[in-house]
Amino acid sequence: MGEAALKKSEPARLVVALGERSYDIVVGERILGKAGQYILPLIRGKKVLIVCDETVAKLYLHRLTNALEEAQIRSRSILVKPGEGSKSMASFGELMEALLAEKPDRKTTLIALGGGVIGDLTGFAASVLLRGVEFIQIPTTLLSQVDSSVGGKTGINSRWGKNLIGSFHQPRLVLADVATLATLPKRELLSGYAEVLKYGLINDTAFFGWLEQHGAGLIGGDTALMTEAILRSCAAKAAIVGEDEKESGVRALLNLGHTFGHALEAETGYGDALLHGEAVAIGMVLALKMSVVMGLCPQADMDRVIAHYKTVGLAFCPKSIRKDWNVDALMEHFTRDKKAEGGKLTFILLRGIGKAFITQEVNVETLRDMLAKAVGA
Ligand SMILES: NC(=O)c1ccc[n+]([C@@H]2O[C@H](COP(=O)([O-])OP(=O)(O)OC[C@H]3O[C@@H](n4cnc5c(N)ncnc54)[C@H](O)[C@@H]3O)[C@@H](O)[C@H]2O)c1
Ligand SMILES: [Zn+2]
Repeated sequence: MGEAALKKSEPARLVVALGERSYDIVVGERILGKAGQYILPLIRGKKVLIVCDETVAKLYLHRLTNALEEAQIRSRSILVKPGEGSKSMASFGELMEALLAEKPDRKTTLIALGGGVIGDLTGFAASVLLRGVEFIQIPTTLLSQVDSSVGGKTGINSRWGKNLIGSFHQPRLVLADVATLATLPKRELLSGYAEVLKYGLINDTAFFGWLEQHGAGLIGGDTALMTEAILRSCAAKAAIVGEDEKESGVRALLNLGHTFGHALEAETGYGDALLHGEAVAIGMVLALKMSVVMGLCPQADMDRVIAHYKTVGLAFCPKSIRKDWNVDALMEHFTRDKKAEGGKLTFILLRGIGKAFITQEVNVETLRDMLAKAVGA
């Protein structure tokens, strides 16, 4: 895959194999300007509705609408405010009304142009608009290009937690233009990098080694390295989703760091204080800590991961985010987690780098002790 990814002119194509719901992930530089040729064969009507946030719209919407026009595809755009706040019930309601005002029919295709917020929101809207229309993902953040745009999880947030209202609805196509990452703030890039790292930690020690070698260059903006990391990440996710679309088993591994991360995010209010990927990054370290405390994972593996965090500039300690975490409140989030089945907490732990596994054998007291030490309360 390495060499193919390094040829800038040739976009690479991966398949998410899900029978009749199979679709391609196309990754390449400057493919947004050719979006029409990828999209035209897939849409059933002649009209598409683009959902985009205001920041991304200023940067890339015209490029997409021009490309669609070149392919004789009519488009209309609906803009929402940037940020996690747009995954609220209120914004979702407004979006649905705006979509219906465009008089869509069952052949209308929605296009999500933006980060994971836009992808999750638009995908969910597509799954319920007129009882379900098709949608296409054009992710523009590293996080959405390596993770959220692939796999069909869509949803919005509730006051009870993140992504608690949602559906499985697979896109028809994922078009990841690596060139759009050039305008992404460094902090967002690093946040997305946490999800890249996740694939190495789950089951690919060689990829983790590759990231140790190239992670800093990638964060520095090297597009060839980004392309390769995106392809390897998407291939990893596609393989897991192909095996377990609706998370009855192995797909839960993709939640590595997320049970801890979601609790931290909920406590900080899903905002600028802590981005999703930053929460996941710290969450993965907490999962490693828990694994070490339980005697399952060598301390050396955790040290190696933290050394890499330091190299790329990723925060690993909850105390660097805030000093006054409430351990009880964090514990409360675990029991409310979607993955808590019949009162049993489910965690993804590690026997080492590249050796993640799913377990319900976590002692609550040990967990509480580990957490109290880690968050410093
Ligand atoms: N569905 C899934 O499987 C899945 C997986 C992981 C995460 N998620 C969700 O994804 C969301 C986070 O996604 P995200 O990190 O992409 O956040 P985001 O969509 O909020 O984007 C981050 C910020 O970057 C801006 N931006 C986007 N693209 C840009 C570009 N090319 N140049 C400059 N600015 C740009 C946006 O306007 C926004 O302000 C969370 O809601 C999370 O729950 C979903
Ligand atoms: Zn995530």
